[in-house]
Amino acid sequence: MSPTKPPLARSTATTPQPDTAWFVESRFGLFIHWGLYALGARHEWVKRYEEMTDEFYRRFFDHFDPDLYDPVAWARMARAAGMKYMVVTTRHHDGFCLWDSLYTDFKATRTPAKRDLLKPLVDAFRQEGLRIGFYYSLLDWTHPDFPVDRNHPRASDSTYREAHQGRDVRQYAAYMRNQVTELLTQFGKIDLMWYDFSYPGEDGKGRDDWESETLLALTRQLQPGIIVNNRLDLPYPPDFVTPEQYQPMEPMRDATGQPVIWEGCQTFSGSWGYHRDEQSWKNVKQLLWLLIDGVSKNGNLLLNVGPTARGEFDQRARDRLTGLAGWMHYHARSIYGCGPAPEGIETPPDCRYTYNASSNRLYLHVFNWPIKFVYLPGLNDRVEYAQLLHDASEVQIKARSDDPHSNMQAATADDVLTLLIPNVPPPVEVPVIELFLKS
Ligand code: GLC
Repeated sequence: MSPTKPPLARSTATTPQPDTAWFVESRFGLFIHWGLYALGARHEWVKRYEEMTDEFYRRFFDHFDPDLYDPVAWARMARAAGMKYMVVTTRHHDGFCLWDSLYTDFKATRTPAKRDLLKPLVDAFRQEGLRIGFYYSLLDWTHPDFPVDRNHPRASDSTYREAHQGRDVRQYAAYMRNQVTELLTQFGKIDLMWYDFSYPGEDGKGRDDWESETLLALTRQLQPGIIVNNRLDLPYPPDFVTPEQYQPMEPMRDATGQPVIWEGCQTFSGSWGYHRDEQSWKNVKQLLWLLIDGVSKNGNLLLNVGPTARGEFDQRARDRLTGLAGWMHYHARSIYGCGPAPEGIETPPDCRYTYNASSNRLYLHVFNWPIKFVYLPGLNDRVEYAQLLHDASEVQIKARSDDPHSNMQAATADDVLTLLIPNVPPPVEVPVIELFLKS
């Protein structure tokens, strides 16, 4: 915490309250990382990793021509996959802007694309009923006012560092406010802002460099109700936290033990930007596990696509989105508006529960289909009716007196409910049993 400035309360009478209800209800969003690094096709940090000069990186700018770009097709795929919001990289760490910013020439309109790529994207997703989030990089590896630091592509070039010593981070912070003002005034209602990222300390940058308090205040002032992530390095509670490429063990809590709103962000294969050669793609079942496990721990999933430089989701991404769409068609009910099971209900092996408090229904997601019985500790006498969610076929509850051999009477504890399940696993990636709880 900065010793000179007292911590601000998250909201005061003059600060609009963030609207988080839609976010928690939605549970599933699409992250889009799209920019010049799609041409390199070997990670969005390619400029940094290969320590490229601006002149060298310019090759991507000069050749960026996404002739197959069809944001309506993107939005339809996202909606079909069950995503309720999207977050797009309006600019990433390379500083390249998808929109026609007045404050830079390093933007899509000056590439062979010759057009604003952000506006049609926003329109298309809104049209499909998704909420709109903007990712905005706090780093800018191209801007002449951005002081070279440990994350900068030229970090280890001492001659370059010396030659650029006089850069004024205050001017850079003002530049960011100008751009954020454009983003939050020219594209209609923006529901979410995803700033990325802070690395305070030795040769890094944090709240004093970004002028985070001012930036956040501006964000809230321009878009009342907007929700903002936790990467501005501010000492007070963010609207939501952003575990990256890992799944938390339990529902996330702050330092005082209070539950927090969280959104896990995940890639298909490791890189955020389009990566041609990466082989470590997750399959549909693994992606569903991320979504379901997250909801069971009270979290959201923001799943990333890195479109190609021609402006398409590649075949591997399309296959996965199609798989997710197939599952969500039947099972959206166990995701939207759901959270963890009520206290004290123990999860059976290889399963995850989600729970919808308004309908009082509990959803058992079975990742490994057992033979004959599913045992549900803590649920005896608490379930009114059970069915497979994908086809609404009844799942029978086994009567406790029904044991075929008397010496099996004590096989389950008194509080256990036993379900009789079909031998053949349901023909869906992750079967779900919907349990209507007694009120
Ligand atoms: C990291 C990376 C960045 C990516 C982001 C997404 O902060 O720097 O490339 O956009 O994570 O969460």
